[in-house]
Amino acid sequence: MTTIVYPGSFDPLTNGHLDIIERGAKLADRLVIGILKNSSKAPMFTLDERIAIMQASISHLSNVEIISFDGLLVDFMKSQHAKTVIRGLRAVSDFEYELQMAQANRDLYPDMETMFLATKVEYSFISSTIVKEILRYGGNIRHLVPKASIEVIESILGGKK
Ligand code: PNS
Repeated sequence: MTTIVYPGSFDPLTNGHLDIIERGAKLADRLVIGILKNSSKAPMFTLDERIAIMQASISHLSNVEIISFDGLLVDFMKSQHAKTVIRGLRAVSDFEYELQMAQANRDLYPDMETMFLATKVEYSFISSTIVKEILRYGGNIRHLVPKASIEVIESILGGKK
């Protein structure tokens, strides 16, 4: 059984992430979404909120699991019996950081492979950072995040007012 891990902070999940999840799910028997518990960037959404947003968005995918993790990605990969990680690439600007991370991970876990999926053009400008920036100023993000997650996001934000 092939297990692929798709790791990230998902703060919050975007349409670009969901596209990678849907395509990654076709490449693996089991796709594990690894949600980083404590990102060095202070998250806008708590871990439970990020999981709730993710759950609402992936209910149509039967071979996808959500598991949170802390510590090194390579240790999480080993705990999931996975040797392949996928990451989305939006633009050349993503590449430098992603290459460095792939090489650092491979240095720590030589059997590990990082597979890059090119983001669809229509999602290439979308990032969690952009979504948070728009949210902070009360703008519309409904076209940037999965439809199924909008109600969850609105109820979380409503509760924080
Ligand atoms: O999409 P993101 O939020 O930039 O995801 C980054 C993530 C979670 C993949 C990365 O920060 C990570 O793997 N963190 C765990 C610590 C680690 O193993 N870092 C890479 C080797 S130094």
